[in-house]
Amino acid sequence: MNYPEIVSQLTLDEKIKLVTGYGSWHTYPVERLGVESIMMTDGPIGLRKVDEGESESHVSVCFPSGCLTSCSFDKELLEKMGEALGEECQAYEVGMILGPAINIKRSPLCGRNFEYYSEDPLLTGELAASYIKGVQSKGIGTSLKHYTMNNQEYRRMSYDAVVDERALREIYLTGYEIAVKKSQPYTLMCSYNLVNGEHTSESKRLLTDILRDEWGFKGAVISDWGAVHYRDKGIAAGLDLEMPGNQWANKDFIKSAIAEGSLTIDELDTCVDRIVTLVKRVKKRPAVFEFDKDHDLTRRIAEESIVLLKNRNDILPLKPDTKVAVLGEFAEKPRIQGGGSAFINCYAVDVTLEEMKKAGSVIYSKAFPSDSDKWDRSELDKAIECAKTADVAVVMAGLPDSYESEGFDRTHIHLPEGQNILILELTELGIPTVVVLQNGAVVDMPWADAVDGIVEAYLAGEGSGTAITNILYGAVNPSGKLAETFPRKLEDNPSFLNFPGDGYNVPYAESIYVGYRYYQKKKMDVLFPFGFGLSYTSFLYDNLKLSKKNMLDTDVLSVSVDITNTGEVSGKEIVQLYVSDHGDQSGRPQRPVRELKGFEKVSLEPGETKTVTFELDKRSFAYYEERISDWIVPSTEYYIEIGASCEDIRLSESVNVEATKTVPLKIRPDTVFGELLRDPRTQKYTMDNLINQQSSGISSFPPEAIAALMDHNPIRGLRNFGNESAERVEEIMYELKTLVHDTE
Ligand code: GLC
Repeated sequence: MNYPEIVSQLTLDEKIKLVTGYGSWHTYPVERLGVESIMMTDGPIGLRKVDEGESESHVSVCFPSGCLTSCSFDKELLEKMGEALGEECQAYEVGMILGPAINIKRSPLCGRNFEYYSEDPLLTGELAASYIKGVQSKGIGTSLKHYTMNNQEYRRMSYDAVVDERALREIYLTGYEIAVKKSQPYTLMCSYNLVNGEHTSESKRLLTDILRDEWGFKGAVISDWGAVHYRDKGIAAGLDLEMPGNQWANKDFIKSAIAEGSLTIDELDTCVDRIVTLVKRVKKRPAVFEFDKDHDLTRRIAEESIVLLKNRNDILPLKPDTKVAVLGEFAEKPRIQGGGSAFINCYAVDVTLEEMKKAGSVIYSKAFPSDSDKWDRSELDKAIECAKTADVAVVMAGLPDSYESEGFDRTHIHLPEGQNILILELTELGIPTVVVLQNGAVVDMPWADAVDGIVEAYLAGEGSGTAITNILYGAVNPSGKLAETFPRKLEDNPSFLNFPGDGYNVPYAESIYVGYRYYQKKKMDVLFPFGFGLSYTSFLYDNLKLSKKNMLDTDVLSVSVDITNTGEVSGKEIVQLYVSDHGDQSGRPQRPVRELKGFEKVSLEPGETKTVTFELDKRSFAYYEERISDWIVPSTEYYIEIGASCEDIRLSESVNVEATKTVPLKIRPDTVFGELLRDPRTQKYTMDNLINQQSSGISSFPPEAIAALMDHNPIRGLRNFGNESAERVEEIMYELKTLVHDTE
């Protein structure tokens, strides 16, 4: 306990207030004991400060989304972004920003993939740790979210992620583990969903046994907004703060739980102390919100992250005197961010068309809208006529807001039809064509082989117009690489057969084979692989050296490799280190072909060489052995592979590793899913699987459902009515009361 002198003086009512939010965005103050209230706001790509009772957020600066910043593979850059956000929080008197959001990209369809980083846990964890360090260096808190398995939006408040222990550990928890161990975030935010039958908000295993006892997490756990079911169970599990505030209901709940003995004062005090500690960790000081400075930073972050996917015949960079036909309304109205709680009220948006007109000779045709998938033949024809008068057509393509957001998932990965038609027709006419994409998640590209250039700008924040222009005209040499695989079609994705589940169970049957781990194991051809990105220069990989040829799994292996810029312009290269288990895997758990175990971004002038070094430890070689609940390194030969992408391995050296800990070689359970999946008919009615997901009127609910609704927590029930009008809510509550009365 960090503040026993405070906790011991608190009344029970004050303790209950401290473990329950105050309004939508604050913790509860206890002035008499010097416990201030702190404000928290979203994140993660800017400050969405909404005053209590308001809906409009303050003007702020919109940084690139996680889908793009992850492509920088640049820890320092993410730390700089965090520092800027921390400073902004100080200026707006916000004590904690609700980010980073790091759920693994299991399916390209997840509506919030735009917020998340990657399909790979190491990249995810390292970048999250950097962002957190940056923010917290300013005395401001973070909330690493959504812990865990929030890999879809469909039924997000009640689906049960059914996952085997190995996948949970190796894929879905490792990002959090790295971030916790490397940066000690002030808080984690638990997710809405269940994991193997238990709500994360009530899971002692996730919130205490693994997070605190195994990983040494010292911060507090807050709930996602409305993710709490039984507050007493949450407190006992290690959920320290329910958000948003719900002062009325919890008091009785918690007091009766203590009276019944299902909750102890010690358990309550533990949570209270963590909230007091959280509040004390926030160091408020005067600061100025430097809008222009942060706006420039958003441009730089986008420039360092944008990915050049194709550059046939060096069509890029464009020359100032190249006559360019810019096609598509995204040029005038760039899509720079995703929808939902991450939405930022922007300070100033750089418009691509205006920026391109400053850089070169540009004509424009709207071609298709940026805010819908409607298209019009005559508009496409106008665009084609415009392109015929130019040297190059640059199609500003992308996904309209309506395609992806928090709150729902996509059902396909196509661009709007009109965009694909235009691009294909341009190429059929032999017009040199470059496509710039502004999308929050993977899209398929039926024209990928036909076009000359492809630039993936994702959702690049308010500086995107300048960043895209600087990349297209070569003022900046692109250096981003993909943090997720682009499959040729959705059906190739490993989660396809089990996404989004039956509305109750979501079987993660692909286990550890997520993203490139799957495509490479299956030797599947993909459109663009994980870790792929081009440059306007070229790089030579040379002189790979390992510090050992033979080692124990408790040793550290040092790796070095030389990278040379062999081109004409300066550039940056993301050097990736993969570990591949090259032994005979019969009779032991199968492993991916290779796994990312290190990455470094190196900046090089033409002709310059630098040596990049890595350090590998036991976890670099280990898999998670469920039978002994520990990480194990099989004694065998491993390849240390240095790649420009997961498919483009430039150098490789082998090393023999001897295990200091082994497991009895028993036959493994053929599948863990059998006993984990449960019969949907046994599901308990809760607030979430009733209100949020029942479209019919409430009177159609079965009596036990109504009872659950009323007994459980009527205020929560009300909140779960979403944006219903006050009258409607009154109506519902009246209906509820009469129904409950009737069933009594
Ligand atoms: C939302 C989101 C979470 C956000 C919170 C507060 O439901 O899931 O990411 O931080 O509520 O807006």
